[in-house]
Amino acid sequence: MPDLFAPLRPEMESIRDGVVLLAGFADSGTLLPYIRTLTTEAPFRHMVTPGGRQMRVAMSNCGPLGWVSEPTGYRYAPTDPLSGKPWPAMPAVFRDLAARAAACAGFGIFEPDACLINRYETGTSLSPHQDMDEADKNWPIVSVSIGVSAMFQLYGNIRGGTPLNIPLHDGDILVFGGPARLAFHGVRKLAPAQHALTGSRRFNLTFRRAR
Ligand code: SIN
Ligand code: FE2
Repeated sequence: MPDLFAPLRPEMESIRDGVVLLAGFADSGTLLPYIRTLTTEAPFRHMVTPGGRQMRVAMSNCGPLGWVSEPTGYRYAPTDPLSGKPWPAMPAVFRDLAARAAACAGFGIFEPDACLINRYETGTSLSPHQDMDEADKNWPIVSVSIGVSAMFQLYGNIRGGTPLNIPLHDGDILVFGGPARLAFHGVRKLAPAQHALTGSRRFNLTFRRAR
């Protein structure tokens, strides 16, 4: 007799060396009101790349440092270039969630000083890239998915090749570090779908240690 209460997926899945998926680890109902408040203070915006292209993913930040893309380059900034004011503080629930996820995934103590907040609409994709702007690559990246599911594409440490497609659902946390810290990764176009709490959108919180 099959166990009707067996989880559909194991809670923790080792994807490859340095990449761990914690399925359903985060409660989006708890996180979304914070995202709403934070992005009232520091609104979502479409940043411009050094190549002069406007990013399709809308972004904001919270925490001591925020990742910004500008025609002059990428950087971590203590203030929001739109307002000149410090980024909103990182909520304790965010920090604790990221720390628990990193510890569960086997990366030990994690003290993020930056949280990038991404918003995807239907059809929005994120081109393959490396997370390169952090000073110390020994810290992992902790990435929290909220709302509509997306297909995360994980490549190797050099550009190109065939990606490993990882479906990320609401509440999933992907942690990557160690030998996978500089893996290229991107997100496929968000498919039309509805989520009870976010409608057709997906949000992503990416916790980093920038300095
Ligand atoms: C990122 O690479 O910054 C975001 C990844 C994601 O949205 O899952
Ligand atoms: Fe990234």
